[in-house]
Parts: sequence; structure tokens; C-alpha cells
Amino acid sequence: TLPRVYVTRQIPPEGLKILRESGQVQFELWDSDDIPVPRKELLQKVKGVDGLLCVLTEKIDAELLDAAGPNLKVLSTMSVGFDHLSLEELKKRSDQNIIGIRVGYTPEVLTDAVAELTVALLLTTSRRLIEATHEAKTGGWGTWRTLWLCGHELANSTVGILGLGRIGVAIAERLAPFKVKKFIYTDLEPRPELASVINAEYVSLDELAKQSDFLAVCCALTPETKEICNKDLFSKMKNTSIFINTSRGGVVNQEDLYEALSTGQIAGAGLDVTVPEPLPINHQLFTLKNCVILPHIASASYSTRNAMSALAANNLLCGLRGEAMIKELKL
Ligand code: GLV
Ligand code: GLV
Repeated sequence: TLPRVYVTRQIPPEGLKILRESGQVQFELWDSDDIPVPRKELLQKVKGVDGLLCVLTEKIDAELLDAAGPNLKVLSTMSVGFDHLSLEELKKRSDQNIIGIRVGYTPEVLTDAVAELTVALLLTTSRRLIEATHEAKTGGWGTWRTLWLCGHELANSTVGILGLGRIGVAIAERLAPFKVKKFIYTDLEPRPELASVINAEYVSLDELAKQSDFLAVCCALTPETKEICNKDLFSKMKNTSIFINTSRGGVVNQEDLYEALSTGQIAGAGLDVTVPEPLPINHQLFTLKNCVILPHIASASYSTRNAMSALAANNLLCGLRGEAMIKELKL
């Protein structure tokens, strides 16, 4: 009989087509994109499955792995981020060789879309586009004014990247034509190969905060990066600086960010990710004119979401055949 798979979301059509036409799996689907599968339903549906294809709203932890049981061999997430997976639990099970779960994810296919959105968010924030359209349509546009809705420009600026990976490089490549003067970055260690592509200088986190006119966070959320953007960091930034986060909300201490934005410690922030998601509509960050908040859409282009769906499906099928996945996480 064919391996059994549960798919936790109605994923974009390309991935579903691959699963359907493979003839290699028997799969069941949570047939909605508008609401995530309720936890209770998920815990029941995963019982005895050989494979699981999930999205980032599902916590894959000890409880879920226990509910799935010893048949589970392959986990495929339709995301580049994997902070929703308990790697420790997955590793533990692999080491003990109880099940040996292999894990696929979707890096690279979303790099262009995320970089593009990050640039859009950066410009939206620095040039105050949301405030501007609001003023235009609500009567605030009294006359042309010399300093009204002025922002900060990229030309001659220093752009700092916190966590230099493929996405950080892709962002810098897109920003360079805006006449950025200098790229700097920090990471756990220097990444000379990536840095040389964009001619970026390695600096400490302190220097990154002090020198950046635009600070873009592009790191993974890990125990090392949790709330790395906090009071200490914001207090070192210039009051003309713009902070942009398209990685994970958990890298930011949101109380400290609110404080920095509301007191003018920094000039503005653009966030595609928050804690929690969705951010409650009465959250204090929504009251700030200098904070632009997007609902986690950085990879949301039709082509990229379909590519992620296809890659997640192919990772799953490769794993179930016992072959190398196209993009496999090393546990
Ligand atoms: C999106 O945030 C992803 O991890 O793919
Ligand atoms: C970014 O780091 C990616 O994996 O595409």
C-alpha cells in the first residue's frame, strides 16, 4: 500500500498536482487556506502517517510527533523558516533511531520575492507612503509644504544587514542601485564569500546599530537571535534610522521597539513579522504612524508560493522514496 501523508493546508496548486499525479502517496488534506487546521484535528489526523507536509502555523513538537507515532519518516515544511519545528525533538528521535525523521524545507525559491518585498517595505517606511496616502485621502493635503512628510533617503546611506544569508545578499543587490554608500553586516561569524558579492564589511552588532541608516534583519530565529533587537540595540541607533524586519517577529523585543519608535529614538520601523501573528488589532504598535506593519507576506507572489508548494511536495516524495531531498535540513 502507498505511504500515507497528511497535508496541513490547502497549499498552492502546483504542489497538490505533484502529489496527486505522482501516484506514490495516499494523501489527506486540510482543505482550507483561510483557517489553520485546529490542533485537536491535526493530532488525530497525523496518527500513523508516513509523511507530513506542513506550513509555518503548525507547531511540530514532541506532542505532535508522539501523536504521529513511529511510522513518520518525512516532514516537509512549505517555508524557509523552521522555528516552528522542534529540532531538538526531531534530532532526539533520529539519534535514538526510533524513527529517524527527515526534514525538508524551501530555501532559495523565495529569495527574490522576499528581497523584493523587503525593499518595498523599506521604501514605504522611509518615505512614509502609508501616512502620505492617508493624508491625501482624508483632507490632510492642505497645500504643498516644504518639510511635510519628509523621510530619509537611501542615496549616500549606510545599510546594515543583521544576519547575512542569501536573502540579505539579494536585498543588498537590489538596494545598491539606489546609490547606497556602504553595506555593513553582522552575523555569528564573518561570511566573506557572501559579503564579497555585495562588498559588505563585517562589523560587531554594536557598530551595526551605530552606523546603519537602514537596518534590515535577515537572520533565522534561534535561541541566539531571540529578541536580539532590544532596548540595548535601539538605544545605539541614530534617531534618523529605519528598522526593517522580514525574518521572524521573535528576533525583536516589541515593547522595546514601541518605546524606541514612540520616543523618537529611531525614525521608523517596517515589520512583516510580529509576535503573535496575527498581531491583535488593538496592539500598541498599530497606533504609531512611524510603524508599518504587514501580515507576513514577504514570499507572497503567485510564482514563489507555487514554487514553494512544488518544492515542499517534491521534498516529501523524495524523502518517502528514501532518496536525498532537494532541500533537506541537516538535523
Ligand atoms: C516564511 O516566513 C517562510 O519561512 O517561508
Ligand atoms: C535564505 O536564507 C534562503 O534560504 O533563501
